[in-house]
Amino acid sequence: MKILNLSFHAMLCSLALAAGRAQTTPFSTLPHFEKRGAVTQLIVDGKPFIILGGQVGNPAGSPERMERAWPLFKALNANTIEFPIYWEQIEPEEGKFDFRGVDQIIRGLRSQGLRAIPLWFGTYKNGAMDYVPAWVKADPKRFPRVLDYGGRPIRVLSPHGQATLGADRRAYTELMKHLKEIDGNDHTVILMQVENESGVLGSVRDYSPEVAQLFNGPVPAALVTALKKPPGTWKEVFGSRAEEMFTGYHLASYINAISHAGKEVYPLPTFVNVWMGGEGTNDRFLEFDRPGDSYPSGGPQSHMISLWKATAPDIDLIGPDIYHQAPSIYRLILSRYTRPDNPLLVVETGRGGVFARFCFMALGDFSAIGFSPFGVDAGPGSELSAGFTDMAANYRILKSALPAIADLQASGKLQAAIEDEFIPGRNLYFDRYDVLVRFRPPGRTSSQPPAAANTAVPSGRVLIGQLGPDEFLIAGFNAALDFKPPMGSEQTAAQCLLVEEGVYENGAWKRTQLRNGDQTTPGLVFSSEGALIRVKLMRY
Ligand code: DGJ
Repeated sequence: MKILNLSFHAMLCSLALAAGRAQTTPFSTLPHFEKRGAVTQLIVDGKPFIILGGQVGNPAGSPERMERAWPLFKALNANTIEFPIYWEQIEPEEGKFDFRGVDQIIRGLRSQGLRAIPLWFGTYKNGAMDYVPAWVKADPKRFPRVLDYGGRPIRVLSPHGQATLGADRRAYTELMKHLKEIDGNDHTVILMQVENESGVLGSVRDYSPEVAQLFNGPVPAALVTALKKPPGTWKEVFGSRAEEMFTGYHLASYINAISHAGKEVYPLPTFVNVWMGGEGTNDRFLEFDRPGDSYPSGGPQSHMISLWKATAPDIDLIGPDIYHQAPSIYRLILSRYTRPDNPLLVVETGRGGVFARFCFMALGDFSAIGFSPFGVDAGPGSELSAGFTDMAANYRILKSALPAIADLQASGKLQAAIEDEFIPGRNLYFDRYDVLVRFRPPGRTSSQPPAAANTAVPSGRVLIGQLGPDEFLIAGFNAALDFKPPMGSEQTAAQCLLVEEGVYENGAWKRTQLRNGDQTTPGLVFSSEGALIRVKLMRY
């Protein structure tokens, strides 16, 4: 991935100055990625920033709808909102740009103390072309569509269309220029999503005659080298995946060119999001899992990450959209998208108590830089829909502790445990303590058979970070914790010395309640209200 390289940016700054252009914001103060300890983190205004996000629904990209949703963002306790910017909205007529709506939304989010992640709905949105301006839709000669196997044009623009790329790139670059102007000093916008769930739905590749020629030719040398493959044609190199890889290469190049051009004018970090598919990650269980069919062909699905990384160096991160409810599949997807060259951002996820647990899993076990359920503005009224209650509770408990959580991620001393239908408890191992986490407290005992015990949606979740040799920071819901020295230690038992519920205020821990006596023995109990606790222990 592209981690901020200060000398490279310093060079860009001096080139820009030499060219007589004023640099209002030094690049190093813009949001960027930085390696800290074991992980790569998003740095905003000089500090690690963890996104407690929410994404609004697709029609919500207007100031009126966003303003109506302000109380919902507050109720969610979010610190960042993801919202769409439609190409057709900013360039209704070719070459005439209108950023009034964008300005109002960004100013509005800033006034609410929120950060923003615009989602560029350009050439691609969910493997189709629905958000492009009418003048693009109406001119298939200039802006060619993908031709399917039968030679019929489909509702997807071809990644081989050079005029389409030029037009999208220009619109996106104008947007970035504008963002620099209105936000270059404030950094309300911290990340840009380029396109949305890109790929081709309805065909594995473009079957136009010109593209066929390209497909029958050799795989570019740089790609085979990067993927450590022998040279050859697409079919020779990639066999049954050839058409998908071919589309992926051209799509990744297309979106990289847009991201690159945007960064030339305003170098904010960028990412792409993914409609899951392949390798057991699709949530459309009842059909064959095929590119172009059950998921958009050429997108950055988990088996395509290496190709995208090799082809799109100007895209900093590939983030999954996960609507799966099974913890094992959720974990599989998180593990695929967590790589040394790809910090994890859960760009979209489902709402409901089931998903609230996965926020802890992502932060604790995969050092996620952020998590964002979809559809925050859902529901008719001015109240946050019930599906977000547990997520709002997560964010309420976690929000003040984010700097500590970021440090724990960097030091590799953070772990999560979540309840599952058939997992009533977990053992976690730290260097001086084993932690037993049970998810059936109180009144839901683990001795009950699972069917009887699981009357409610599994919602137990804890995040445990080791602050010092005998001190832990714990955020939790519906769980009880016990501590013991590891096997083979001289001591055989552990005891709480100090247990404090509290919050962080300006970086300093502030106790809100002392827990003692019965509240600490036999274990630490977290109710459905949740709590943030600091505990000092001793071994004896
Ligand atoms: C994934 C897409 O990226 C979103 O824009 C939205 O359409 C959701 N699916 C709806 O579940």
